[in-house]
Amino acid sequence: MTTPSIDSARLWTSLTEVSRYGATPAGGLNRLAASIFDGQARDYVVAAATEIGCTVRIDPLGNTFLRREGTDHKAKAILIGSHLDSQPLGGKYDGIYGVMAGLELLQSLQTSNSVTTHPIEVVVWTNEEGARFSPAMMGAAYFAGKFSAEELHSRTDVEGVTLGESLRAINYLGSDFVSPDQFASYFEIHIEQGPILEREGIDIGVVTAVQGMRWFRVQLSGQSGHSGTYPMEGRRDALAAAAQIVSGVQTIGLAQPEIGRATVGHLLVTPNSPNVVPGNVELMVELRHPEVLALNTMTDELHALLKTVESRTGVVIEVKQELDSATIHFTPELIDIVEASATASGMSSTRMISGAGHDACQIAGLMPLTMIFIPCVDGISHAENEDITQVWAANGAQVLVEAVLQVDSHLK
Ligand code: GLV
Ligand code: MN
Ligand code: MN
Repeated sequence: MTTPSIDSARLWTSLTEVSRYGATPAGGLNRLAASIFDGQARDYVVAAATEIGCTVRIDPLGNTFLRREGTDHKAKAILIGSHLDSQPLGGKYDGIYGVMAGLELLQSLQTSNSVTTHPIEVVVWTNEEGARFSPAMMGAAYFAGKFSAEELHSRTDVEGVTLGESLRAINYLGSDFVSPDQFASYFEIHIEQGPILEREGIDIGVVTAVQGMRWFRVQLSGQSGHSGTYPMEGRRDALAAAAQIVSGVQTIGLAQPEIGRATVGHLLVTPNSPNVVPGNVELMVELRHPEVLALNTMTDELHALLKTVESRTGVVIEVKQELDSATIHFTPELIDIVEASATASGMSSTRMISGAGHDACQIAGLMPLTMIFIPCVDGISHAENEDITQVWAANGAQVLVEAVLQVDSHLK
């Protein structure tokens, strides 16, 4: 079969239209997982897929599977996945591009009357970002059997609203049983979220691995009091202690030159009033590194830091690890196929490791898998000014179609 050409204008229109849901004035997205806007974006994608004859399955975590049948009804499907949720002040392409490129794949196959042996299925994973409900990559982790639906449905956002009730409110609390053994292989296409491809003028990133990441929720309990009367000596100021942790975490990251990353990106101060000594703080520490030994060292350093700050300040510090995503290595045969697909599509490519986490990390070990990257402007992501070009978007989608069809014809 000759590979159908994707429709660059159609893909760009889909990307533009879907970014209405949760659009921010500064040109980004605020589309938290299972929010009304998440529901609207899913409805948009589901409508486009059903219009071309795809069937829809929704599992209890809201993971939404859009299926185009193949000729062999016993064959396992080829799965292409990504997410539609964003960070609170995120961009229009992180995750969203992967879903819309998957939709474009289905549309291109349909409009060119292409026939595949295997069913092709595109999945919208629930809550990749973890910005509203922790942990990140939740829907994919459920699919992988790492949590029960009940356990995850009871997770709450900062307002105490549960994931279960939020999914029900947007009509994405499904009951379809979808399991990994129904699938033969997995692809995820994403913006790079870093500067390498654009800087080097390369069309396609052939992703070989995703670096490991760990999340720690830290609770600091001190003593609140009147800021005008509480003596400076003897204060147990939870925010002052948190400041020492923030600074110490930065030092941990800087001690892993070039590669390591250490961030405090979430902080809740209670009662958060100018004239009250802060009694309680919650913060999240995130550590990333591609090598497990280095990640272990960073983790040990974090625990030592917390002990030091506790004894220095008298603020009680409790820590709970909420995410442990190991470094993931993708499947060599699929990496080769993506590389060959880029060449066959007339595009330049380079092999690279992903610094960002992805739903693919949860799929590793369940089936052969890999990822494809396209450039993004100035490497900026998780920010409202995240940007890509129509040409980059189209290039990636074309390589995705080529790679999926390669797998379809080679897979037994
Ligand atoms: C994904 O959004 C990540 O945090 O890497
Ligand atoms: Mn993403
Ligand atoms: Mn993201």
